Parts: sequence; C-alpha cells; structure tokens
Amino acid sequence: MGTAVYEKMGVTMSADDVLKSFVPYAERILITGCHGLLGQKLHQQLSPTNEIIGLDLAGETHLSGRSFQYRAIDITQSSPLIDAIIETRPSFIVNTAAITDVDLCEIERDMCWRVNVLAVENLIRAAKKVGAHLVHISSDYVFDGLTPPYKETDPVKPLGFYGKSKLASENILRGCGAPHTIVRTQVLYGVAPQIRPNFVDFVVDRLTGGGELKIVDDQTGNPTLADDLARGIARIIQLRKQGIYHISGSESISRYQFARKIALQFGEDPARIKPIKTADLDQKAERPKDSTFCLDKIWQDLKFRPNDVAGGLSEYQRQRRMLQTAWGGKK
Ligand SMILES: NC(=O)c1ccc[n+]([C@@H]2O[C@H](COP(=O)([O-])OP(=O)(O)OC[C@H]3O[C@@H](n4cnc5c(N)ncnc54)[C@H](OP(=O)(O)O)[C@@H]3O)[C@@H](O)[C@H]2O)c1
Repeated sequence: MGTAVYEKMGVTMSADDVLKSFVPYAERILITGCHGLLGQKLHQQLSPTNEIIGLDLAGETHLSGRSFQYRAIDITQSSPLIDAIIETRPSFIVNTAAITDVDLCEIERDMCWRVNVLAVENLIRAAKKVGAHLVHISSDYVFDGLTPPYKETDPVKPLGFYGKSKLASENILRGCGAPHTIVRTQVLYGVAPQIRPNFVDFVVDRLTGGGELKIVDDQTGNPTLADDLARGIARIIQLRKQGIYHISGSESISRYQFARKIALQFGEDPARIKPIKTADLDQKAERPKDSTFCLDKIWQDLKFRPNDVAGGLSEYQRQRRMLQTAWGGKK
C-alpha cells in the first residue's frame, strides 16, 4: 500500500509506522524536571523523533540530543518560565517537576505549595499563550487508600499535604480552559544517571552492601517502572488524549513483598528483609494503605499494558548493569 513517508527530524517513517508506534512524531515537547527520573525517561523516549526543550534547576545538563535544548529555569519563577515557553512555542508541555518527598512536604508546606500547585498556574498561563497541551503528573496520594482498586472517576480524599497539593493542582487544571491531561502514578522506580534514590535503589543498595532491612507490609500499591510511565505519556501525546489517566505497573503488591521480589531478582536472601507496620515508623506524612489502581482505561483508550513486577525488575536490573558500566560504577 502506498502510504505517505515522513522524513522530519532526519527519521524516515511511513504513516503506518507512525500510527503503530507508541511515540509521537515531530512534536515540540517541553519537559519540566527533565533531570528527574521520569524527565530523563521522557527525554530518552521522545528525543529521537521530537524536538525536546528540557527545563530543570541545575545550571548545566548531562542530557544531549540532536534537537535537544536545555534551559535552567525554576518553574515557580513565572516571568522566565513564560518567556521561555513563548520563545520555544512547544505543542506539548509535560510537567514532571515537583517536590516528591512526601514527609518534607508536611514540614516545608510553603515550598511544596509553590512548586506543586502555584507553578502549575504559571504553566497554564504560558500554555494558553502558545496553544500548548499540558500533561501534568499527579499521584495515588490523592486517595485515602481505603477502597481500592481506584478508577480515574473515584472520589478523592488525600491524607497528607503532598496529596493535597497534587489534588489542588488537578483542580486548577480541570477548570483552566486549556487542553490538558492529568496522569496519576505511584511508587516510581527506574534507572537513570544522577537521580535521587528510589525504593528499588534503596533495597538493592542495602542488600548488596550486606545490610538488613525492615519494610512495611501494610502499604500496598502498583510499583511502576518509570520507562512504562514514559511510554504511557508518549502514547497520550501521540493520541492527543485529554482527561485523567491512571498509569502504573500492572501488579499490586505490599512494599514488603515487593522488597522480597527485589532481593530474589538480585540473588540476595529475602530472609534479610523483616516485615514491620507503618505505625512502627515515625513518618511525618500519613500514607494510603492500599492505593491499587484499576488500569482498564489505559488498556481500553491507549491499548497500553505496562510491565508486572517481574518484568519491571528484570528491566531495572538490565539497565542498572548498563549504567554501572557506562558511568564507572556511579549511579
Ligand atoms: N516518585 C514517585 O514515587 C512518584 C509517585 C507518584 C507521583 N509522582 C510524580 O511523578 C512526577 C515525577 O516524579 P520523579 O520521581 O521523576 O521526580 P524527581 O526524580 O524528583 O524529579 C523532579 C525533577 O524536578 C526538578 N524540580 C524540582 N523543583 C523544581 C522547580 N521549582 N523548577 C524546575 N525543576 C524543579 C527536580 O530538581 P532537584 O532534584 O534539583 O530538586 C528534579 O530534577 C512528579 O510530579 C511526582 O510528584 C512520583
């Protein structure tokens, strides 16, 4: 069949290839928080066939790419942010920047609100000026964890300040009048250079260092390989989907059982992990006990199936080995 052939960005693809692939093509996409775990995965997946503008706090970037440009911008600073967006005119803005330390958010409430909520207002103002579609990342912490599995339409009831800030950002978006998508995710893990350690990093580092671990067995959810989340977001951009989407790994498991599976994947003795209760920890923020997602919508709307725990951990292990080789043992 004589399908059209696209040659933008130096990549040749037929119209059929473009449709079948899960990645958008020849868009100009601005990613906030591009040095974070999700930001780097998005850069990795989107930069071969799209123009990427990355924003983060650091003065320099270690990211590269033929059509990649980096701007050191704090998204709470509205003037430089809006100027950069007007100058670069992205078709999509993906907001991954956030204060993600949920206990810190209980203490540093002003900072949390400025980054997680007020900066979203800046992004909306800028998106409207250039007609961009805003994709915003939210969290399972908008739920209280008492009635899983959670669908996109289920009532929200955040327990802590981080969850409240994420819900406030969702509410601002809902009434904003600009095209937008809210992507809720949870327990993100993955491999990328120079990121803060995630749950899987923490368990592997401790076990391979010969230590023991105490992990809660009364918090349950879907661990999410960041590569899967980035793939789901790429698909949302490709199909220009709006509304709310739950994107997580396909399997629900307690943190304790997840840690045991991590141990087994890395050839360590799972008996070195002891179960404890959330009440044994002195955590500042209250967490949902079970925020398992219902993933029917991403399958029906996006035809997207993320990894289960075994698939995600095996990919994590493969990438961790590669990164250790590439970065000389540094993560
Ligand atoms: N991690 C999880 O388990 C989880 C669960 C549910 C939802 N989420 C959501 O998923 C998204 C991505 O999470 P992630 O784990 O990839 O986060 P991350 O690794 O912490 O990355 C966030 C990035 O944003 C940057 N940033 C922070 N404040 C900024 C500001 N004011 N202006 C510009 N950049 C700023 C951070 O820089 P610094 O490192 O220098 O601060 C970091 O590079 C977030 O919206 C998060 O709330 C995450």
